[in-house]
Amino acid sequence: MILPHLKASTREQHERAEAHLNLMDPALDRRRYGDVLRTMRSLYGTLEPRVGARLGEAGRAALDWPARLKVPLLDRDLRALDVAPAADLDAGTVDVFLRDEADAWGAAYVLEGATLGGQLVRRHLEARLGLRDEGTAFYSSYGPLTGPRWRAFGEALEARVAQGPDPATFAARATDAARRTFGLFVDRPAAAPEGRRPDPGRPVTRSLT
Ligand code: HEM
Repeated sequence: MILPHLKASTREQHERAEAHLNLMDPALDRRRYGDVLRTMRSLYGTLEPRVGARLGEAGRAALDWPARLKVPLLDRDLRALDVAPAADLDAGTVDVFLRDEADAWGAAYVLEGATLGGQLVRRHLEARLGLRDEGTAFYSSYGPLTGPRWRAFGEALEARVAQGPDPATFAARATDAARRTFGLFVDRPAAAPEGRRPDPGRPVTRSLT
C-alpha cells in the first residue's frame, strides 16, 4: 500500500506546511488570508496543468481530473476578496522533478490532500473573517464530497501502482515527487504580499534531504 507510506514520508512536512500557513491563527486577518490564497494560486497555477499532462489520459479519467481543478476556485476567491491575481510559480521549479506519470501521482497526492483540512479552515474563516460562501471556494473545495473524493483518489492511486510494471519503482518516484511538491509549500514565503512582485520561485533544496 502506497498511501500509508506517502503519509508517513510527508508527515513532518505537513506539520511544517500547516504551521507555515498558520491559517488557524486566532489573529488571522483578511489581508493575510488573501496572501495565502495568492501563494496557493501561484503554486497550483504551475503544478495543476503539469500534473494533469503527466497523469496521461488514463490517469485523468481515473481521477475525474477536470472536476478536481482548484485554479478556478482560487481565482474566484481572489476576485471575491478583491485581491490582485498572483503570477504562476516559475515552471522550471516544477519541471525539474515532475517528469513522468509516477511523479504526477505523487504531486497529485499533495494537491488533493490539501483539501482535507478545508472544512476546519472554512469554519475558522467564517468565525474570524465572517466569510461564508464568497471567498471560501478553495477551502470548501468538494464540501460534503471531500471524504468520498479522497477515498476515490486513494483507490485510483493504489490501483495504478498495482498495475505495474514495477510497483516499487513507481512508489519510490511518487514518494519523492510528493516530498518535492510539499517542499514548494513549506520552503516558500507564506505569501508574496499584495503589491509586491511575487517571488518567481526558487530551487527547492532544504526539503529534499
Ligand atoms: C491550513 C493548514 C492545514 C490544515 C488545518 C490541514 C489539516 C489536515 C487534516 C485535518 C488532515 C487529515 C484529514 C484526515 O485524515 O481525514 C490533513 C491531511 C492532509 N493534508 Fe493537510 N492541512 C493543512 C495544510 C495542508 C497543505 C498546505 C497541504 C499540502 C500542500 C496539505 C496536505 C495534506 C495531505 C497530503 C493530507 C493527507 C494525509 C494522508 O495521507 O492521510 N495540508 N490535513
